Amino acid sequence: MLHDAPRFSPSDAERIARDRFGLEGRASELTSERDQNFLIDAGGRRVVIKIANAAEERAMLDAQQRALTHLAATIETTPRVFAALDGASLTAVLAADGKRHFVWAVTWLDGRPLAHAVRRSPDLWRDFGEQIGQLDAALADFDDPAIHRDFYWDLANGRSIVESSRDQLVDESLRSAIDTLIARFDMRTAPLLASLPRSAIHNDLNDHNVLIGGNGDVERLGQRVTGIVDFGDMVYSYRVGDLAIAIAYAMLGARDPLTVAASIVRGYSSAQTLTDAELAALYGLVTLRLCTSACIAAEQIRQRPDNEYLAVSQAPIRATLPLLAEIPFGLAEATLRDAAGVQSVPAAERVIAFLERATVSPVLGVDLREEPSIVLDLSVDSPLIAGDERGNAEPLLTDRVFGAMKAADVRIAVGRYDEPRLLYVAPEFALGPRPTDEHRTIHIGLDLFADAGSAVFAPLPGVVHAFADNASPQDYGPVIVLRHATDDGAEFFTLYGHLSRESLNGLAIGRTVAAGERIATLGEPAVNGGWTPHLHLQVITDLLGLDTDFPGVAAPSQRATWVALCPDPNLITRVPLSRFPAKPPTKQQTLAARAASIGGNLSIAYRDPVKIVRGWKQYLYDDEGRRYIDAYNNVPHVGHCHPRVVEAGAAQMRVLNTNTRYLNDLLERYAERLLATFPRELDICYFVNSASEANELALRLARAYTGSRDIIVLEAAYHGNTSSLIDISPYKHAGPGGAGAPDWVHVAPLPDIYRGAQKGAEAGPRYAAQVAEIIERIRAAGRGLMGFIAETCPSVGGQLVFPPGYLSSVYDHVRRGGGVCIADEVQTGLGRMGTSFWAFEDQHVIPDIVVMGKPLGNGHPIGAVATTRAIANAFDNGMEFFSTFGGNTVSCAIGLAVLDVMHDEQLQRHASDVGANLLASLRSLAERHAIIGDVRGSGLFLGVELVRDRESLEPAGAEASFVANRMRERGVLLGTDGPYHNVVKIRPPMPFTAGDAELLVEAFDESLGDLP
Ligand SMILES: Cc1ncc(COP(=O)(O)O)c(C=O)c1O
Repeated sequence: MLHDAPRFSPSDAERIARDRFGLEGRASELTSERDQNFLIDAGGRRVVIKIANAAEERAMLDAQQRALTHLAATIETTPRVFAALDGASLTAVLAADGKRHFVWAVTWLDGRPLAHAVRRSPDLWRDFGEQIGQLDAALADFDDPAIHRDFYWDLANGRSIVESSRDQLVDESLRSAIDTLIARFDMRTAPLLASLPRSAIHNDLNDHNVLIGGNGDVERLGQRVTGIVDFGDMVYSYRVGDLAIAIAYAMLGARDPLTVAASIVRGYSSAQTLTDAELAALYGLVTLRLCTSACIAAEQIRQRPDNEYLAVSQAPIRATLPLLAEIPFGLAEATLRDAAGVQSVPAAERVIAFLERATVSPVLGVDLREEPSIVLDLSVDSPLIAGDERGNAEPLLTDRVFGAMKAADVRIAVGRYDEPRLLYVAPEFALGPRPTDEHRTIHIGLDLFADAGSAVFAPLPGVVHAFADNASPQDYGPVIVLRHATDDGAEFFTLYGHLSRESLNGLAIGRTVAAGERIATLGEPAVNGGWTPHLHLQVITDLLGLDTDFPGVAAPSQRATWVALCPDPNLITRVPLSRFPAKPPTKQQTLAARAASIGGNLSIAYRDPVKIVRGWKQYLYDDEGRRYIDAYNNVPHVGHCHPRVVEAGAAQMRVLNTNTRYLNDLLERYAERLLATFPRELDICYFVNSASEANELALRLARAYTGSRDIIVLEAAYHGNTSSLIDISPYKHAGPGGAGAPDWVHVAPLPDIYRGAQKGAEAGPRYAAQVAEIIERIRAAGRGLMGFIAETCPSVGGQLVFPPGYLSSVYDHVRRGGGVCIADEVQTGLGRMGTSFWAFEDQHVIPDIVVMGKPLGNGHPIGAVATTRAIANAFDNGMEFFSTFGGNTVSCAIGLAVLDVMHDEQLQRHASDVGANLLASLRSLAERHAIIGDVRGSGLFLGVELVRDRESLEPAGAEASFVANRMRERGVLLGTDGPYHNVVKIRPPMPFTAGDAELLVEAFDESLGDLP
């Protein structure tokens, strides 16, 4: 408690509320440092009684009340003043110690403090920013003499507070961060202060004074600002102060503070315009607020060393300030300008205009306007580099680049500016420790590939500004930065990377360089950072104080800012634009094109869709090079783009691709190899192109064999997209747009031992008995039973595992009823379950027909059906069976390669090992997250069922979708399924590792933690 803080009890507060305000109700104390606040719940009417610190002056309380009354006209999220019984807004009470305290009351606002929200969504920050903008706009015509005060929390006093308290800082890294930030503040921010607009401001928008809540929508988490409270720190100061203070506290603990700041500024700017000076001063003021807070706390800790609370509450500031010190002020300014919707680097415009009109000398000595050259594709989906070659791009890339140059008979190849690339694999390019964390992938220079030793010439007159040998792998190697000026006096820089060591000999900072003067030669890979010989040329409008450490590649999330800071170097090299291919469409353009030409019910995953352009093993990469762990796609079974599968397909494509009407041994070889994975009884197979086609064929086989039509299917099942398969798929025909089951389709209950009626050891036979009852009804109706079809572990049904004895008992009933048993192994087959190659083996049954699809071709469209000779013979009734592409030579070569890889890489055992650990880790998460109702599955076929309540099992479908979207943000792709869409489905390509599983569980834990 601070000096003079009031010490009234809740019953005192209740008495005050009754006597002074006419409010009858229970009081509960709210936290406050200086004052005492009590919530009075007066029969549904909720009011906050505020008992001021004895030292508080009346004038300041009057000012607050006037401000709130003023704001009430336009702002919904600020408290209303509640008048006392005598009509006065302020009344006074005496404490036991005789001190006089002013008392007043305001209406209670719903919501919880922003400080308590674990996850703070970008939407929330934007909303917060907008509310601050509205608040500042509303305060523009408010003033009160009391807020023109000399207040140590006024940002205008921040600089002198830091000056006087800095010596109290004991933490070395904190002091050094503060020193760095304050030096930059003095240089870049202080000169702007006089030009900042001033106004009445709230002055303390920290996350305890901001309430959030909202509309109950899980995806938004109810994250809207519902209240802005505590106007006790109001002051007349820089108008941008509210925004700066809000950002300062919002940034604490954020992994990417600038992104948070940008979201808030984006929202603010929708309500209130920021001047150039405000945008330029904003980041300096943000950091000043935190420096001031750290210094004031240091001073308080010195006075009261026993106050542990102070030290603890300062921890986030201590952790964040060093991070903020790593962000150059110029970068922050450019980012925040971009967020405010104004040109991010105004100076760049002058540089660009100058370069467009300037006479430039050729950097490699030949005029690239005339010289033949090729433009390379080094983007994420460049075919020049395969997935497995990324870590070792040189010398492969050297071979390929120089090979392409030779083929085109050119001496120079161009690597593009503003191109996302996967080439940067050194740890320095990662923004976080996880493989899914953002990496710097956007190339912000231009590459000129040419022989090592080629001379480099200054394109413009300038001065040597900096040079160094950045010798770490994948760095610039020897690098030179020249400083130039436009003809109207704007300073800018050009950077030359990957030079020879000799290039640095005899260089001196400040030496003038004439246009066309030879300044360097290109380095060999051994000295140039390990790259194919080339010049990295970059134009830089603000060196941000980074000199030769200025980055040549940027993070996708900061792409706009870095591209604005570094204009296109082709302004200097002037390679004809006709040689550059059109830029690939952005994600938004792709979405629009898709909406224009593709049917609307082809759904797209995630609220923020991913645009995937490359796959490798269990990873997918988006168009900006972000890596995702694919925990969802079971089609690329042995891994995306597995080189053996790719090579088998490509090799066969070069030789022959034709259909089954001619003899070719590949068909028989593939059939033999596939059938060898089945029990002896299943000795005939057919090849088609999709699982839908395979299921269609299965129905025809069953019909031909039994002469009957009626079939039993499971609730929530899905078997494919054709008309008859929709008929046998309750997931579709009983869902939106469905027309229900036709009379020949009979739906049996899902044998779900978690959610269904039957539990325990008898569940299997009991659920099977329900199938028997259906068979009996079919018979009684005088109809014939064709058979029973089910996925061996219902996937769309919610990643279920059948209870023991279920399938064997069902198969008995079906066969006794004259039907055949069809196992849809499209999702569960090919070793995915770990325990078996085909899931039916775990159920100790042998189906009559097995349907296969998705994983067979690792993405190449192969479907297949295995069956008994007797059924095949019945089908062979004179009508030809032909599927144009089914069993074609290329498909067979690919199918064989997939089986080879499964075997050689022991992927079934791998699935069993990794899956068992993953299952156990997910189960242990259930101990901490009550929303996890069930974790089930086997191998790499797992499901996590989310429920709102473990008793009622109310499905948490919205929450499951929320978690899948948060996982996507964290770089792990998975989906949801089940009749209530509340089962998170995990079904990765088989090379998914223990490390991937660990990351998945961590990300899952965090994503569940994000739930409100
Ligand atoms: C169990 C099952 N069977 C059949 C199919 C149909 O497969 P396709 O889309 O390859 O025709 C699917 C597709 O999701 C499936 O999950």
